Amino acid sequence: MWKGRFQQETSALLQQYSESVSFDWRLWRHDIAGSIAHSAALQKAGLITADEREKIVAGLEEIGAEIEAGKFQWKTELEDVHMNIEAELTRRIGDPGAKLHTARSRNDQVALDLRLFLREACDGLDGLLAEMQRSLVDLGARHREIIIPGYTHLQRAQPVYFAHHLLAYVEMFDRDRDRLRDARKRLNVLPLGSGAIAGSTIVLDRELIASELGFPAITQNSMDAVSDRDFAVEVLAALALVAVHLSRLSEDVILWVSSEFQFIQLSDAFTTGSSLMPQKKNPDVAELTRGKSGRVIGHLVSLLTTLKGLPMTYNRDMQEDKEPIFDSIDTIRAALAVFAAMLREARANPAACAAAVADPMLLATDLADYLVLRGIPFRKAHEIVGHAVALCGQKQCALSQLTFADYQSLSPAFAADVFDILHVEKSMQARRAIGAPSPENVAAQLARWQAALG
Ligand code: ARG
Repeated sequence: MWKGRFQQETSALLQQYSESVSFDWRLWRHDIAGSIAHSAALQKAGLITADEREKIVAGLEEIGAEIEAGKFQWKTELEDVHMNIEAELTRRIGDPGAKLHTARSRNDQVALDLRLFLREACDGLDGLLAEMQRSLVDLGARHREIIIPGYTHLQRAQPVYFAHHLLAYVEMFDRDRDRLRDARKRLNVLPLGSGAIAGSTIVLDRELIASELGFPAITQNSMDAVSDRDFAVEVLAALALVAVHLSRLSEDVILWVSSEFQFIQLSDAFTTGSSLMPQKKNPDVAELTRGKSGRVIGHLVSLLTTLKGLPMTYNRDMQEDKEPIFDSIDTIRAALAVFAAMLREARANPAACAAAVADPMLLATDLADYLVLRGIPFRKAHEIVGHAVALCGQKQCALSQLTFADYQSLSPAFAADVFDILHVEKSMQARRAIGAPSPENVAAQLARWQAALG
């Protein structure tokens, strides 16, 4: 491709070192779409004839079909996906193929291919995230009566509906979808026509190319267009957060299936056994997902680090953008698909949840609220209930097992109805503020998500 200026062959070592076709071949569909659109602008500018354009389009489509069928021979010595396709086109159709790269550089070409690739990836990820949300909502809806302890500091804190806990993740994944949509909006801009750095003396109709490829906007600075990878960083950042959310959910699942919790059971199809210990049923999906999240976070840092020292404009360092992008997308896609499928077969264990939520200490805050409603300032009420908890410790009993005299000795504000509030269902009924887990609120949220997710 640059034989004019060179007298020596490229060293085999350099060829191996610099090739990217072993991974960027995945951009072939977008590379071909970009070339077909580019050829429309070349024809409009009178640089190729209608007949030449037809040959280019037919040749590219033929090559595309062969790639699709796995019959295309990728050549390392042709470095990347762009040169492989163009060289093969020219071998097949001659001069029209050699005209295709007019007023174009691989710098704007690769920027275009990546944007097209990521635009498509964002759409696919949105569907997978929606599926994940559906699995969580369904699991909650299948067990809408179940109450579990909610935890802070991994200490039992207050009772919540199991569904409320799951719906927290539905909210997280919804923000992830929103972030990806937002990133998609900013990456949906046509860079082609920026050339290597400063456009071209041959002026093409960029608006035509944009409309052929479905871009609602066109980059306005050729230097920015070939050196910008912000759009990829944004997608990787959104995916890193998806990874963090999946990892936290994994941790909950791992705790919930442990013998200590037993809140849920996973199906045999989504667990593994031990080659040594016959009793084991391991939550490998969750552990692997928690593990893989590190990779996805790393890829974001990797791309940022690649970019931070680069002078304007395109630098070959930028070829290092592709593997992190591909791997983050592949990893998150796989994790979402397997996790959603696993949750569809998961079952809560009502007995274990009921036993855990029967811990009367979960209602200590309710007791303080009771005193507040009888005129005791909250800080004071907190202290009184603290004494009640300490007394339970001494007497080795639950809050509901203290006597009325015990309560009266702690505060005269306690009346006989104090025992009425020490029921978990009562406690749930009372949590009616927006966002709190009263049964009505949780039912309404389940219905809202079911309607939103279809
Ligand atoms: N394979 C290259 C990349 O991924 C394509 C652009 C190469 N441009 C160049 N001037 N060498 O970045």
